[in-house]
Parts: sequence; C-alpha cells; structure tokens
Amino acid sequence: TVLILDFGSQYSHLITRRCREHNVYAELLPCTAKIADLHFKPKGIILSGSPYSVYDSGSPHVDPAVFDFGVPILGICYGLQEMAWQLKGEVQKCDHREYGFSQLQINKIHEGDSPVDALFRGLGEEMQVWMSHGDQLSAMPPNFHIIAHTNSAPYAAVAHDTKPFYGIQFHPEVTHSLRGKEVIGRFVLDICGCKPTWTMGEFIGKEIARIREICGPKGRVIGAVSGGVDSTVAAKLMHEAIGDRFQAIMVDNGVLRLNEAQQVNEMLNKNLGVNLTVVDASDLFLSRLKDVEDPEQKRKIIGNTFINVFEQEAAKIEAAADEEEKQGAEAKGRVEWLLQGTLYPDVIESISFKGPSATIKTHHNVGGLLKDMKLKLIEPLRELFKDEVRALGRLLSIPAPLVQRHPFPGPGLAIRILGPVTREQVRILQLADHIYIEEIRKAGLYDEISQAFAVLLPVRAVGVMGDARTYEQVIALRAVQSEDFMTADWYVFPAEVLRRISSRITNEVNGINRVTYDISSKPPATVEWL
Ligand code: XMP
Repeated sequence: TVLILDFGSQYSHLITRRCREHNVYAELLPCTAKIADLHFKPKGIILSGSPYSVYDSGSPHVDPAVFDFGVPILGICYGLQEMAWQLKGEVQKCDHREYGFSQLQINKIHEGDSPVDALFRGLGEEMQVWMSHGDQLSAMPPNFHIIAHTNSAPYAAVAHDTKPFYGIQFHPEVTHSLRGKEVIGRFVLDICGCKPTWTMGEFIGKEIARIREICGPKGRVIGAVSGGVDSTVAAKLMHEAIGDRFQAIMVDNGVLRLNEAQQVNEMLNKNLGVNLTVVDASDLFLSRLKDVEDPEQKRKIIGNTFINVFEQEAAKIEAAADEEEKQGAEAKGRVEWLLQGTLYPDVIESISFKGPSATIKTHHNVGGLLKDMKLKLIEPLRELFKDEVRALGRLLSIPAPLVQRHPFPGPGLAIRILGPVTREQVRILQLADHIYIEEIRKAGLYDEISQAFAVLLPVRAVGVMGDARTYEQVIALRAVQSEDFMTADWYVFPAEVLRRISSRITNEVNGINRVTYDISSKPPATVEWL
C-alpha cells in the first residue's frame, strides 16, 4: 500500500488512481492524519498538492513523524514545498504564477544506478510536464540535489542525497504530464518496492470471501439497482457470494430511459441470475413532480420518494421472510443488510482534506435509507475507482455494453426536462435520447464519449413541415469527454453523425422540430443542464 496524504488539491484522487494503474493499492487520507494512528504500514508516502501556501498561518502541515517513518516520500507541488519547509529549505511566491505546460530538463547527479536518480530513470533527458503553482522553492533544504529544472523553475525536482525523499514541482498525476504516470511508477515500484499485485482478479476472490464472512450463514441482503454499472456489478458480486439471500430492487420512477426497467429486468434476472423485483412507482413519482420546475426541488422529491418506495418494498420482503420462518421453511433469515454501490471517489469526497468549497448541486444517493431502516451497510465497491469497477464487471461476465455504459443521474430525465415533468415530456425525451444514443453506437463513438444525452428545452421554435408552419419544442444534445466529471470538454462529432441524429429526431419524434448541439465545457457550464 502507498499512502497519499491529501492537502486539498483537486488532483489528489488522480494520484491514487495512477498508483492503482500500476497495480499498486493506494489509499488517500487527509494530511492531518497522525502517522502513529495508521491502520496499515504503507511502503511509501506521497504528499499531494494544495491551494494553500506553506508559509501562511493556518495552512495545513503534515505530521513531522512522516520524515522519520523510514519509507520513501514523494512531495508533489505543495507536497514538495511542505517537505522543503519542514526540512529547512525556503519557499517563496513566484513572480508569475505558473500554469500550463513546461519542458522539464533532467539532471543526472551520480554515475551508475544511484537512488538519487531513480525517479526519472530511463525516461530520457527531457519531458513535457504540467505546472500549476504560485509558490516555489527558493533555497534547497540541506543534502538535497536538483534532479530536474525548467526555464522558470530552477528547483523543478529535487532528491535527498542519502534518504529516499523526492519532491517535484509539476503534477505527474494529470495526463498533460506526458510521462507522469511513469514517474509515479518509478516511485511506487522501483523506489518503494511495491509489488504490482492489486488486480481485480485477486479482488474478486478476496471480496467474495469477505462478504461471506461478514454476512454469516443466514440473513438477507437487499439493495437497489438502477441499470448502471456500479449497482449491477455490486449486485452480481453479492449474488456470487450469497446467491438468493441477496434480493435486488429496481424502482421505476417514471423518469428512466426508454424501456429501461424492462431491460434491467431482462439482464439481471434472466442473464445474470440475480433475484430482482421491479416496482413500477411511476405514477407516484410523476404526481409528486407535477408542476415542479426547480431542479433542486426535483432532486429532493425524487430522492425522498425513492426512499419511501424502497422502504415499502423492503417491508414486504421482511414480512415474507418472517412468514417463511414461521412455516419452518428452509430459512434464509431476516433482512439484515443494505447493499450500496459506493465507490472510492465518494469515500475520498468524505475523507479528503477540505478547503473552502461550495455545493453546486445536491447529488442524491440512497444514503438517506439508513436513517429509518435498521440495516447494516455493506459496500463491496468502496475501495474501487470506476475503471476498476468496469474491469471487475468484465470478470463477472457482465456484457460489455453494460459495463461501458455512460453514467446516468439518480433523478434521471427529470433534470433533463427543463420545466415541468409530464408523461408526454418524458415520452418525447426518451425517444430523442434513444435515437441519439443508438446513432452514437452505430457510428462506433460510444466508448470515446464519457457521457451523452439529450435535453428537452422549455421553449418553442418555428419550423416548416410540408407546407405547414410548425411551432414545437427543441432538443439540445450534449456529449462530453471527461476523466472524473469535475471538468469536462464538449465532444467534437463528425458532422455527418450530427446530421443523421438531427434528421432522425425531427422526423421520428412528434413534438420536436429543431435540434441544437451544446458546445459548453465544464467549467463554466456543468455536464447536466440542471
Ligand atoms: P454536473 O452536472 O454536476 O454532472 O457537472 C457531473 C456528473 O454528475 C452527474 N449528476 C448526477 N448524478 N444525481 C446523480 O446521481 C444527480 O442529482 C446528479 N446531477 C449530476 C452527471 O450526470 C454527471 O455525470
């Protein structure tokens, strides 16, 4: 294990991912973690970047015990400055804040294979790196060498002469640093000596054994499924571990994609063998959403209604289980656990070091369920990133189109219908979205795009069909590429694909006479329109 100490950089989770991409397990903790309290012994420690300056009062500092812990340390950006600051170097504000690409020149310090040169070994003499900092080293701590520089950063990378301490001013974790992942590989594999044994193949066996152990020989687990990758993989894993003692519940909230409930039923029940109940609660959801336009209000209504419906369904399963016990039938036991497909980014979100941040949207999840139900939580995916969940899904024989599926928000089409949600509006959007995705798949572009969907705008536009004037609604198409959805760029479609999509939507979807394409990146826009 490699420990990442987070000082609040927006890139900290990417450092963790890059280590995992070398099949080395990495875990992130806030920079305030006390070394003496660690529940594991890391083989190396990485100090992340940060929006702070080390010399400001109130800025975060690492437990000085890390420098006596006896394992290699890599400081990235603020992490380097923190290392220098603690080891008696100097840090100053740059004349110009440096943001963007830089050419790194690597300096070889010793002859032969000295550990001082290990960080860039075999990576050539120059590399393109990504900088984003306002401070930099102005004097080195004692016994350090400069192992790389750029035109504007004389101390772009440093290493201690005898201890395994390294610091770099650039961000190797972002893909703009072209060989950054290899630099992280040099650190975790060569310098820390971690073995590349973190694979999903190993994970499945261990996780199934762990689930069996914590669930014991009796007792049921229930969990919501949505048709998305995470809940499907979690459900299948659960089924592998405890078979029919796991019961999946799918709530049809009336704002799902076209034929979604039916397809999920087909997939989970028939193909994957998971015990599944589909509850059609669309009337209830749509009646509660009537005349509601405010997006946060929509989210709240859908989140709360979901909890009501799920709890009712759980109560039915509970009652049936009690009845079975009374009959003395072969008992699977009472409902004791709630499965949740929490992923590592959500865990990171809750444990990472918080700088100032504002809530942009309240993404609902099923966390609210636990307040009322007396269930214990089981989260088999909580150590995993999305790409790891996809790899796990493939190993569990979940079909590729499902494993590669784009994310879909909990509040569904309700936050893609701008204005009130009615059955008719849902129908229009479902059809348009279906055509859009179908054409993207046909063009072989689905896997290149991180998320694509249609949005129904609350305006009417004039058009002409045959000889008649029309006055109908407008569909906006959105497609983005993104690594983590914190930032996103709009996708550049081949013109003929857009042409086909537009022509099919206006021809086949009654009520639409105009299609537009959204060319906004995030920021300043968000991925969803609401
Ligand atoms: P935004 O619009 O915040 O979207 O840029 C980023 C990612 O989050 C998804 N999203 C949601 N997911 N409940 C969800 O489960 C929500 O309320 C919600 N709002 C946005 C969005 O689809 C994108 O993948």
